[in-house]
Amino acid sequence: MHGLIRPIERTTTMPKRAHLIAGILASLCMATFLVSTLLVELFGAQTAVAQLKSLIVTPGLWILIPTIAAAGGSGMLLSRSRRGRLVDAKKKRMPFIAANGLLVLVPCAIFLNRWAAGGAFDTPFYGVQAIELIAGAINLTLMSLNARDGLRMAGRLR
Ligand code: HEM
Repeated sequence: MHGLIRPIERTTTMPKRAHLIAGILASLCMATFLVSTLLVELFGAQTAVAQLKSLIVTPGLWILIPTIAAAGGSGMLLSRSRRGRLVDAKKKRMPFIAANGLLVLVPCAIFLNRWAAGGAFDTPFYGVQAIELIAGAINLTLMSLNARDGLRMAGRLR
């Protein structure tokens, strides 16, 4: 009995656990970037801003992008056996999360890091910083909605 049930259990709980961990890590990462950016822009010296811009690129993006990809990929796997409003909503949000990350957040982070390292805290810097903050807030919202709907589907949230 035990030997029969275990392998089936493993194939269903492994992606589920990976998805939970990736989803939570990705959301926490996004929230950390957003809050630390706001704090350092409001209260930090330019050297602190430059240091954070550098940390957001390395190791930041190297953590954020793979965890978002892992959450999306494992989510798609899990959704094959699911039907309904919540899973549809999650699936619809994912392309926006990915595109926003790769096409807006990554280029913003790279340019801001380059400019801050050269001490160029000028109009383009603050313009791109504003775009990054807005895109970051949108992504954090979409990711939080996906986490909420995921927790609802898993029966952890009512
Ligand atoms: C950044 C994007 C995502 C985040 C942050 C996220 C987050 C979560 C979280 C926190 C859970 C609860 C897991 C648990 O309590 O065990 C969950 C479950 C789930 N997610 Fe996602 N998710 C994301 C993307 C996706 C995508 C693109 C899909 C595909 C439609 C998806 C499908 C699912 C499914 C089907 C479950 C229920 C698993 C179960 O049967 O218990 N997720 N998600």
